[in-house]
Amino acid sequence: MIQKRLFVIILMAFCFISLSSEKKGFNGIAKGEWKASPELVERLSKRRSETNYDEQKVTEYTLPDPLTMIDGTAVADAQTWTFHRRPEILELFRTYVYGRSPVERPENMSFEVFDLERNALGGSAIRKQVTVYFTGEKEGPKMDILVYLPKNADKPVPTFVLLNFGGNHTVHSDPAIRLSESWMRPGEGVKDHRANEASRGRSSSRFPIEQILKRGYGLATIYYGDIDPDFHDEFKNGVHPAFDRKRGPDAWGSIGAWAWGLSRAMDYFETDDEIDQSKVAVLGHSRLGKTALWAGARDPRFAIVISNNSGCGGAALSRRAYGETVKRINTSFPHWFCDNFKTFNDKEEDLPVDQHMLIALMAPRPVYVASADEDLWADPRGEFLSCKHAESVYHLFGKKGLSKEPMPDLNQPVNEGTIGYHVRSGGHGLTEYDWQRYMDFADMHFEK
Ligand code: GCU
Repeated sequence: MIQKRLFVIILMAFCFISLSSEKKGFNGIAKGEWKASPELVERLSKRRSETNYDEQKVTEYTLPDPLTMIDGTAVADAQTWTFHRRPEILELFRTYVYGRSPVERPENMSFEVFDLERNALGGSAIRKQVTVYFTGEKEGPKMDILVYLPKNADKPVPTFVLLNFGGNHTVHSDPAIRLSESWMRPGEGVKDHRANEASRGRSSSRFPIEQILKRGYGLATIYYGDIDPDFHDEFKNGVHPAFDRKRGPDAWGSIGAWAWGLSRAMDYFETDDEIDQSKVAVLGHSRLGKTALWAGARDPRFAIVISNNSGCGGAALSRRAYGETVKRINTSFPHWFCDNFKTFNDKEEDLPVDQHMLIALMAPRPVYVASADEDLWADPRGEFLSCKHAESVYHLFGKKGLSKEPMPDLNQPVNEGTIGYHVRSGGHGLTEYDWQRYMDFADMHFEK
């Protein structure tokens, strides 16, 4: 009798295991979901033995619940989220991850439109170039915003804003774009000599401006080095010294400064009648994708927030420690985050937040996260999981999060909900495919 019962139990267990293993792969990946190429995993693991690229080696972790306050109170409605839990999480990100900016809109900040061409790009566009003097002083820190708008728009234009890596003049071959001065590390000369004609249009593949205009959108871009040069100099250059009094362990780093600069661009858009300030989408690639997410979290004026291959410190869950880790990023780029973030090197599980909570800070606004198949350094699955674990907050607002689950396969965008996601073929980069998906998403949410 006992033997018979045991046999039935074993048989049931066997059926259960084979059923569930049919649904899920050995490492929890369902059929039809994206999976890193085993050859690539092997190749990268050999190249960087200290980095984990193996899904099976991701250790178990528990994510902090976006819907539980620090004191344990459950968040059950949108009011409590908006007025209590959201500010609490924002403050945790300020204190432990990106740091605190000492000022918001500086009192004396001024704008100077130094170029306005209503027949740009062969007559198809309006071009504007605007200098933002952050302190109002001409000699102080400043940034140039380059704007293209479609010509003959009959109303203010919804616009994408993003920072660029190489200088405004690298985004298009238009000879009227003012050269951005880029900066090198001390010892290598003060000004970078790349600020020259030779680099004009060099990054134009990342900026399909004509297509963006054709779809009825404007594009605004700023060289990130105008706001803060991207190397560690103890915050002596860029906007930091103009506003810092004393720097504590929660003082803003470079990502904090770049995100702050995007908000200053938004201040300008509010003064420009040709830009629809209620329809500004902030976008960023890689370190600038981390920046776009932080900008969108800090500043609710950004109506859509888009992260392209942002990875660690961006959309990817830190606790997975897959690809780039908190320790790695803080070591290679000690100036990006606040000093407090370094206390979580190899201690991701102690972080009071994880990156799904950064995505949740956008709610109820639409947010889109994109990964690339070969960009394992940025942890595509970790980026998807952040979106998934942010969904509970969207549900409080009666919004759909992702429109489909589980993780989609290659080039199968999931974009009908309020959280969009895709993983496209290829490596780390901002491609035309990505742009088309972002415009599809914006078309839907801006009701174009
Ligand atoms: C490095 C860094 C990433 C970052 C990327 C980029 O690879 O480790 O975190 O996203 O640079 O900005 O290009």
